[in-house]
Amino acid sequence: MAPASDRNGHEGRRRVLLLPLPYHGHINPMLRLAAALHDRGLAVTVVHTETRAPDRRSLPAGCELVTVPDGLPPELAASGDIPSFVFALNRNCAAPFRDLLAGALRQEEEEEDGGGVACVVADVDWFAPLAAARELGVPALALMTSSAARVYLAYPRLCEKGYLPVQESNLDMPVDKHPPLLVRDLHIMMDTSRHVAYASLLAHIVAGVRQSSGLILNTFNAIERTDVEQIRRDTAIPVFPVGPLHMLSPPATVATQKSSLLLEDRSCLEWLNTQLPGSVLFVSFGTLVSIDADELLEVAWGLAASNRPFLWVVRPRLVRGRDSVELPSELLEETRGRGRIIRWAPQEEVLSHPAIGAFLTHCGWNSTLESISRTVPMICKPCGGDQLGTARYVCDMWKVGVRVEVEDKLTRGGIQAAIERLMDGIEGGVVRDRMREMGDVVSKCTTKGGSSDLALQDLVDFIKSS
Ligand code: UDX
Repeated sequence: MAPASDRNGHEGRRRVLLLPLPYHGHINPMLRLAAALHDRGLAVTVVHTETRAPDRRSLPAGCELVTVPDGLPPELAASGDIPSFVFALNRNCAAPFRDLLAGALRQEEEEEDGGGVACVVADVDWFAPLAAARELGVPALALMTSSAARVYLAYPRLCEKGYLPVQESNLDMPVDKHPPLLVRDLHIMMDTSRHVAYASLLAHIVAGVRQSSGLILNTFNAIERTDVEQIRRDTAIPVFPVGPLHMLSPPATVATQKSSLLLEDRSCLEWLNTQLPGSVLFVSFGTLVSIDADELLEVAWGLAASNRPFLWVVRPRLVRGRDSVELPSELLEETRGRGRIIRWAPQEEVLSHPAIGAFLTHCGWNSTLESISRTVPMICKPCGGDQLGTARYVCDMWKVGVRVEVEDKLTRGGIQAAIERLMDGIEGGVVRDRMREMGDVVSKCTTKGGSSDLALQDLVDFIKSS
């Protein structure tokens, strides 16, 4: 590991080792945190698995990258079996990470430049490296990349209270201490075939977080204060709500922070330049979601029926088990000129484009924060996991989006109706006003003296005093 003083030109910067989970939606916020910590005077080493290691040049300026071997077959990462992948990563990477950290500590003793390892920050899913850091006497903080309202940290309490595993008969029951969530929003637990694996993973995550020196949250007080307070009570450790992380990175480093795992189709920005302000619907279902081929067709025909211009990300494996999909020629003919389908977008830039009028999204937490910060109202089609709870907050609590109504299954009529409600109806105007207000709130939180700015400074002080 490079001495902190050599790399940064500053004597004795304390060093932080950051461990992102190798999923795009987790790497991105961790790299934003890396940039923010570096900007506030810390030396940063990103420790990544060989699986999906980002290009060194994609790191925020001044941060170094070290990879650890994980010995995992690429098929496991691509399988979509998250519990098996995360357990295997923890099993295989704990020892290499421990060796790396022990080596850094030995180096620190030899150099005596006042720098040295201050702490480790690992994704909450990295419970084994968090434990290894603690064993070596290094403070270990966890980063949760999803919302505070993601009830995973309350998992033991929800089991005790009988909410989990979810029973069909309770679906519309409110979840105590987690308004506005209903039991149906804990949907991840309903899939009984995976329940045991997820339950075990959550138990490891919760135990790891509780034993950490602190928890960093990619959220901000103004939208999730109650949930942040609940987490403080549940974990009894210092909690730092520093989000949205993508807004805290210093502008100079943002431009170099291309951690995309797929090649961005930047030509869509030129196409957006040719569209009227607020006219285009952006459609993306994030990085992990897979849908059935017939659901994809319903989305496609719903977009066609809306008569709106749209930009749609159809990435590899969006349709379960398929690297690519072919849409019917009559559909392509009907939407020619007003519909653009790409494999991967520069999403943050797309959402900032004045032509974008709404975002049809799966409600992944990063997408939700990016949409809020660009004041783009949302059409929510959550597909599982934390996305269900996030959609509930977006539509029922913050009222900055509308939901795609799904009875037994997703239909083109449901997609078309949601687009019309948001983009044409009176309700859309109200939602847009609310979204603008929320945009102001998030700007205040992240500017100097705002709650996230202060929480970040608290975090930096906490790390420096470790
Ligand atoms: C999942 C969970 O749903 C989410 O809550 C959790 O925090 C991470 O894992 P994911 O499918 O990765 O989410 O979606 P999301 O959290 O929205 O992250 C997707 C990221 O990919 C965003 O930062 C988005 O800007 C980026 N993206 C997506 C692109 O850059 N281009 C695209 O075309 C699509």
